[in-house]
Amino acid sequence: MPSPLLSLDFLYGTAWKEERTAALTELAVRTGFRGIDTANQRRHYFEAGVGEGLTAAYRVGVVTRAELFLQTKFTYRRGQDHRLPYDPAASLTVQVAQSLAGSLEHLDTHYVDSFVLHGPASGHEWSEADAEVWEAMRKERDAGRARLLGISNVTVQQLEQLASSGAEIPTFVQNRCFARLGWDRDVRTFCDRHKITYQGFSLLTANPEVLQHAPLMTLAAQLEATPAQVIFSFAHAVGMLPLTGTSSAEHMIADLASVRLALPQALVQAIESIAG
Ligand SMILES: NC(=O)c1ccc[n+]([C@@H]2O[C@H](COP(=O)([O-])OP(=O)(O)OC[C@H]3O[C@@H](n4cnc5c(N)ncnc54)[C@H](OP(=O)(O)O)[C@@H]3O)[C@@H](O)[C@H]2O)c1
Repeated sequence: MPSPLLSLDFLYGTAWKEERTAALTELAVRTGFRGIDTANQRRHYFEAGVGEGLTAAYRVGVVTRAELFLQTKFTYRRGQDHRLPYDPAASLTVQVAQSLAGSLEHLDTHYVDSFVLHGPASGHEWSEADAEVWEAMRKERDAGRARLLGISNVTVQQLEQLASSGAEIPTFVQNRCFARLGWDRDVRTFCDRHKITYQGFSLLTANPEVLQHAPLMTLAAQLEATPAQVIFSFAHAVGMLPLTGTSSAEHMIADLASVRLALPQALVQAIESIAG
């Protein structure tokens, strides 16, 4: 099976779009996004709306299911509101299966390309609950309902604990990426070492100081690019798979165009070390 990552430059994030989810998902696909990130977490995502947008895009022949990379997530009870995608009294293993079954229904597909643990159960360790969920996710993958697995909102300590437990290493890590933490340097280093693809989110919203950094703005202007495009281009240059959740047609085009922006290596290094 060819790697679904080969032609994947960007993920379109579908959080916080509520009744605009279907139209914006369809627009993102029409604009050229081929990777879609969602979650079976009604509190922040309207996954059925993502499915509606995809169906509309399939109907007009913009894209086929096979040409897309669809990623969803399993979210623990504490990250959900009352609109749960599983029976909270069921075991975690059953909750994982019910959550993914719901996602497949929402997205009208037999498999997702990536199934992500939205975040470990606690902020500081890889717990027994996480081990159970991870094993349940692996079984879903082995049954063909997901192709690849990932973990989000994870620390390097948790990844190290997971690795030393002998459990399978994820294909993806998806984290909020703060420039002031060296763009999540510790986690990215772990990812490099284990051939994990690092997906970065909040690249713009977590880093307003970078977007207003005077030397960066000057360099962006020289490249005829916006500071946002420079950040996304930097993310690509250091091997990240970035997410954007823009609701603007203009920004969708600009964000995709950032992939073709070749930053001088010195600029990549300067941005990498912006936090010192
Ligand atoms: N795993 C997790 O826990 C988690 C958490 C948060 C997010 N996510 C995922 O990541 C996705 C992205 O979320 P995010 O936190 O990165 O924020 P976001 O929803 O992508 O917001 C980015 C902000 O940047 C602006 N923007 C985008 N492109 C721009 C451009 N070219 N020029 C200027 N402004 C631009 C957007 O405004 P406009 O709309 O006006 O363009 C928006 O205000 C989410 O939809 C979700 O799928 C995952």
